[in-house]
Amino acid sequence: MSKKKAAKPVSKKAAKPAAKKAVKAAGSSSKSLLVENRVFKPSADFVKKARISSMAQYQKMHAESLKNPDKFFGREAKELSWSRPFKKVLDWKCPNAKWFVGGQLNVSVNCLDRHLDGPRKTKAAIIWEGEPGEKRVITYQQLHRDVCRFANVLKRHKVKKGDRVVIYMPMVPEAAVAMLACTRIGAMHSVVFGGFSAESIKDRVTDCGATMVITADGGYRRGAVVALKKNVDDALKGGDTPVKSVIVLRRTGQDVHIEEGRDYWWHRELEYVDAKCPAVAMDSEAPLFILYTSGSTGKPKGILHTTGGYLLHAYMTSKYVFDLRDDDVYWCTADIGWVTGHSYMVYGPLAMGATSLMYEGAPNWPENDRFWRIIEEYGVTVFYTAPTAIRAFMKWGDEWLKKHDLSSLRLLGTVGEPINPEAWMWYHNQVGGGRCPIVDTWWQTETGGHMITPIPGAIPTKPGTATLPFFGVDAAVVDDLGKEVGKDEQGKLVIRKPWPSMLRGIWGDKDRYQKTYWSDFKGWYFAGDGARRDKDGYFWIIGRIDDVLNVAGHRLGTAEVESALVSHAAVAEAAVVGRPDELKGQGVVCFVTVKEGVKTSRDLSEELKKHVRKVIGPVATPDEIRFAAALPKTRSGKIMRRLLKQIASGETLKGDTTTLEDINVIAALAAASGED
Ligand code: PRX
Repeated sequence: MSKKKAAKPVSKKAAKPAAKKAVKAAGSSSKSLLVENRVFKPSADFVKKARISSMAQYQKMHAESLKNPDKFFGREAKELSWSRPFKKVLDWKCPNAKWFVGGQLNVSVNCLDRHLDGPRKTKAAIIWEGEPGEKRVITYQQLHRDVCRFANVLKRHKVKKGDRVVIYMPMVPEAAVAMLACTRIGAMHSVVFGGFSAESIKDRVTDCGATMVITADGGYRRGAVVALKKNVDDALKGGDTPVKSVIVLRRTGQDVHIEEGRDYWWHRELEYVDAKCPAVAMDSEAPLFILYTSGSTGKPKGILHTTGGYLLHAYMTSKYVFDLRDDDVYWCTADIGWVTGHSYMVYGPLAMGATSLMYEGAPNWPENDRFWRIIEEYGVTVFYTAPTAIRAFMKWGDEWLKKHDLSSLRLLGTVGEPINPEAWMWYHNQVGGGRCPIVDTWWQTETGGHMITPIPGAIPTKPGTATLPFFGVDAAVVDDLGKEVGKDEQGKLVIRKPWPSMLRGIWGDKDRYQKTYWSDFKGWYFAGDGARRDKDGYFWIIGRIDDVLNVAGHRLGTAEVESALVSHAAVAEAAVVGRPDELKGQGVVCFVTVKEGVKTSRDLSEELKKHVRKVIGPVATPDEIRFAAALPKTRSGKIMRRLLKQIASGETLKGDTTTLEDINVIAALAAASGED
């Protein structure tokens, strides 16, 4: 463990043991939480080397970024490589933003080519470890070559600028190669998380009109092989999708079906191409990728990001929030199928010329210390993971960490959900040895990059808060009328100005874009999260206030699970709510009424869980199915979710029930034991 000196808490309360009491708020939906009132300043050692090293410097830069975005972002954007300079920084007609108007650039050039002229040429771009234990180090020069060759494979298959390519791959370097190759020729990628089902792939392929799918025979997860190619086969069965070719990487070596004229092995295709592939100069506002995420309807939204603004924000946050330096070994544990994997495993760190570590498998394979072994072995300096993982590590016990030297770490980060102070303190003390600042980064698929986050050398942190807005982010907490709420009052989190990496739309659904994000408050982006600000102006994120759950850091629409349930022959009606879960943040509870004549049983409950897994994927597996004779509804027929949430969490029912159509329904539900 670390021999370096621990950072000292600075508040007056620091000398006393932290005030601890069980609460349910304080920035998390999880149950047994602590309030931790201490404030943690970065150590002098950290500050000395940090790019932004004081609150005053942060405040000055933040003020300039809001007051004079043209100047601020114009200056920052010059750090990227443009093939044609932009003429105007921002053109904003709510809800449509154009950043760096007139400029042209290529993302793969910014992530690769521009590092080849100096010492970074032979530096590790990606360090990879497979779950079974293979190791690979890929230099910038090699990655460039791999990307160029694979871009030529795409061209061979007639993929061109503006086309959509779905990537459904395990966590292997080729996933990043496939993404970067798309950007090289101006094709858009849509990465689908490897834990999603065949049906989910089909929905996405169809929605975005993909002509190619890139996949692998399989991937390793907790010692087992995930049948990726089989899922793609099932998704494309019937031939009613626009997909013309499927490129298959050989990863596990298992037998897979190869459909003549449609499926091609990755390694064979490489034999036909060379390593020269000029990059296509893309307009700054050219579409870069689509990433599907859950909303409050049954249909996932294809979030659209464009080129210049997205890349700049990923680059800038990697520079200022992770404070990446040339000698860092940076590890983001997210899967490439989520936005975190896009911005902070691939685009941000590579645009910075950093070394990005990638690990294929589970944190507890073969044993609970896999992550700590990796940190020790590669000398990881910056580590970015999710609160749900931290809570699992805590549960597994400190002895797993104690076996390893984690003293290389200098900065820690979290993302995906509110972190409960107890987990924050454990992360700080046990993983960070008390010396590493923690950046708790609040953002979303839609925002493209960090929005509210500590700047580690400048902003003192408090366990459980994402602290203050990043540059260019004008965040506020408001009531339903758009008026800022008072100190410590809860309200809705809004962003009042456009920012470079904001989503540019929902693929194929202009109205939904306007309605979902820009209609609650005229001219402002509504994030769907509740929050409060404390006396120092710090933002405490409460969590989603729409019908979206956050299960182990993954977004899941209750409507998606409901529509999966009612697609089962036995189900008449379903209502899905979240309940606090110690490990996952939220668990999925389904209230189900069955059709006439169907008998409820434990078997049926298991079958419904499996059915949801099959329709959406393992991420959506319900924790509990509760059969009910009826669901509580208002007289106008609306399901009263508020009551169901209280029942699911075992709380005493609060609030108005006078609008209920049938009060007996509630009594019956509360009495029901759940599984049968
Ligand atoms: O509720 C917020 C929560 O995750 C949501 C965004 O989910 P997704 O688009 O899947 O992106 C996750 C990775 C960026 C947000 O609306 N969330 C994310 N980060 C935090 C968070 N809640 C609290 N604190 C965070 N640091």
